[in-house]
Amino acid sequence: MSRIYPDSHVEIQGLLARKYDSIMNIGTIGSYDRFIKAVVKAMNIQSDENILDLGCGTGRNACLMHTYLGENGSITGMDISEEMGDQFKKNCATYNNVVFKNQRVDIPFSDGKHFDTVFMSFVLHGFPHDVRLSVLQNIFDSLEAGGRFCLLDFSEFRMKDMPPHHRWVFKTFECKYAFDFVERDWKNILTEAGFADFDEHFWFKKYVRLLIAKKK
Ligand SMILES: C[S@@+](CC[C@H](N)C(=O)[O-])C[C@H]1O[C@@H](n2cnc3c(N)ncnc32)[C@H](O)[C@@H]1O
Repeated sequence: MSRIYPDSHVEIQGLLARKYDSIMNIGTIGSYDRFIKAVVKAMNIQSDENILDLGCGTGRNACLMHTYLGENGSITGMDISEEMGDQFKKNCATYNNVVFKNQRVDIPFSDGKHFDTVFMSFVLHGFPHDVRLSVLQNIFDSLEAGGRFCLLDFSEFRMKDMPPHHRWVFKTFECKYAFDFVERDWKNILTEAGFADFDEHFWFKKYVRLLIAKKK
């Protein structure tokens, strides 16, 4: 399948998609599981929350979020990749309040349903900036008033300030869109997109951040 944004590294296909969770485990030297559990804990999910997981991947995150939900809560996973969708559906097969939608997140997708929380993990950095702004509009439109956007992604840093070995890893494995993502002021961008009341948590030497923002 051809890519929508050929320079992006978040449109994951083929073997990379099928082995995505294992690759993340190996790439983080076995610490991914502990990290993502801490992230989901920091989200402070309530049992009746309706969560939209954009670019949901294999369902690993959805399964963790599901442990905090009761029968009135729900998760909708949305992803462009059928290979990711197959894994999501398999991993979440036993949960009747978790659904998958094979849909792009960078074009309007709202079918009138509004969510308490939109979660997006390691997807937004992989788009050109004008596309990111469209995605933020889609997120805003799909949230209830007072709902929250939980953005898990690279935090803000200057690449030239990174130690050389960290910069080498980042420049080798990340796409060019990530390079401008990390140098932008995301609280300011989110404020302009209609969000407020920020809360943030950091991991991996502060290179990764969970930024939580409320819809105004
Ligand atoms: C780096 S992976 C992250 C997966 C998951 N969020 C996680 O943290 O494990 C990026 C995901 O975004 C999806 N994706 C990329 N572009 C997309 C788009 N335009 N619409 C929907 N999903 C997209 C990919 O298929 C992939 O599952």
